[in-house]
Amino acid sequence: MTKPRALIVDDEQDILDLLRITLSRMGLDCLAATDLGGARRLLSTQSFRLCLTDMRLPDGDGIDLVREIASHYPQVPVAMITAHGSMETAVAAMKAGAFDFVAKPLDLQVLRRLVTAALRLGPPAAGDAETGPAAGNLPPLLGDSPAMVELRRLIAKLARNQAPVYVSGESGTGKELAARLIHLQGPRATAPFVPVNCGAIPPDLVESELFGHKKGSFTGAISDNPGLFQAADGGTLFLDEVAELPLPAQVKLLRVLQEKKARPVGSQREVPVDVRLISATHRDLAAEVAGGRFRQDLFYRINVIELRLPPLRERTGDIPLLTAHFLDRIARQNGLIPPRLAASALAALIHYPFPGNVRELENVLERALALAEGETLEAADLYLPALPTATAAAPGLTGPGAPPAGGMSEDATAAALAESISEIQRQVILRTLEETRWNRTAAAKQLGMSLRSLRYRLSKLGIE
Ligand SMILES: Nc1ncnc2c1ncn2[C@@H]1O[C@H](COP(=O)(O)OP(=O)(O)OP(=O)(O)O)[C@@H](O)[C@H]1O
Ligand SMILES: [Mg+2]
Repeated sequence: MTKPRALIVDDEQDILDLLRITLSRMGLDCLAATDLGGARRLLSTQSFRLCLTDMRLPDGDGIDLVREIASHYPQVPVAMITAHGSMETAVAAMKAGAFDFVAKPLDLQVLRRLVTAALRLGPPAAGDAETGPAAGNLPPLLGDSPAMVELRRLIAKLARNQAPVYVSGESGTGKELAARLIHLQGPRATAPFVPVNCGAIPPDLVESELFGHKKGSFTGAISDNPGLFQAADGGTLFLDEVAELPLPAQVKLLRVLQEKKARPVGSQREVPVDVRLISATHRDLAAEVAGGRFRQDLFYRINVIELRLPPLRERTGDIPLLTAHFLDRIARQNGLIPPRLAASALAALIHYPFPGNVRELENVLERALALAEGETLEAADLYLPALPTATAAAPGLTGPGAPPAGGMSEDATAAALAESISEIQRQVILRTLEETRWNRTAAAKQLGMSLRSLRYRLSKLGIE
């Protein structure tokens, strides 16, 4: 079997030697270039499993090489060697498409971890599911709106990267679900995903919870605690409600991200950390920075890539699909037959602004199913709070047929579900068209779909 090959680019011979020795001990062949031109020539004639490039090269900037590799050789993970403490370059490199960075002077332990991570990013092994090894255990991020389609595409792309991701969005929009999908679709899937609610840790314990502590380092530290960063080693740490981190912990977090090493409270030694960071908050983090409650430099560092989850009211076109999915799931879990949904109920759902977003929709349906008496869920069964933007529900239209009582095969259930989804979609589209006086552009906008996909749906549903 041929050895995996690495491209190393640096104009300092000492560094090239150090890289070559370290990487060949890890079973890699190295080809070296001392400038951009040399690197380009090698890239055009050889195939590589990894590239490490310095930042300043005699004939240009390493970032340009990162950009070229990201666009012409996207299967080659590229990492940047940055000057000590230069956060700007590290962030710029990752924005340009680098999967990670390593600071000078090179720490061999950090370098080895980076190389291991790069090799895991390599060409997917035959038989790997497209969505990654374990993604099947999670509920999918549903939605046909352009925003959700784009979001799923971004998640798949981000999964192959190590850069910190900041997930923003209102409460209940699916931030944690998105973070888990990034983890599960990437090379860290078999290592832990550790979610931490920063707001739930008492402020004076945040440091020791995150970075660990030595026994006896403070009252109550009765034994060594490795900390959550160590617990997530090799995997992903999800810092939820990151805006709640006290300022001293923010300083330490920044350092850890920069150095890739952490010093447990009360310990003399730093331990390497190999963790991908995903953070989230329902707050407006930029406003927290402006208000002096969140450090600008940390914001800049954790926000290398932002993933924004749109509120449900900006994609009401997804409500029918989500509703059908949740009704089906909740009914199955309770051994019930999914109920019909009256048109009035669907209209009420579509017009309700959902301040609690998808989670609230889920809760509303759960409650409705528990309390409803008949076979059809009517608007009144939803017990929606007063609706500021509600319009009167149109009478007359009744929901799709419920499956017949008694057992149904999986296929029959799926077919019934598909049919009820398209019936629901039909009703939603018709109603929206009526509301917009058949202005298709306005209707498409209100439904959160493109004009093209609205036209497609119309013809598929046989609506003139
Ligand atoms: N697009 C979606 N498709 C299917 N289920 C979804 C979707 N978005 C969210 N959910 C579900 O909604 C619930 C809330 O999602 P999640 O916990 O990820 O939201 P969050 O943004 O982290 O909320 P919070 O701000 O309250 O912490 C979960 O049960 C999740 O599975
Ligand atoms: Mg959450």
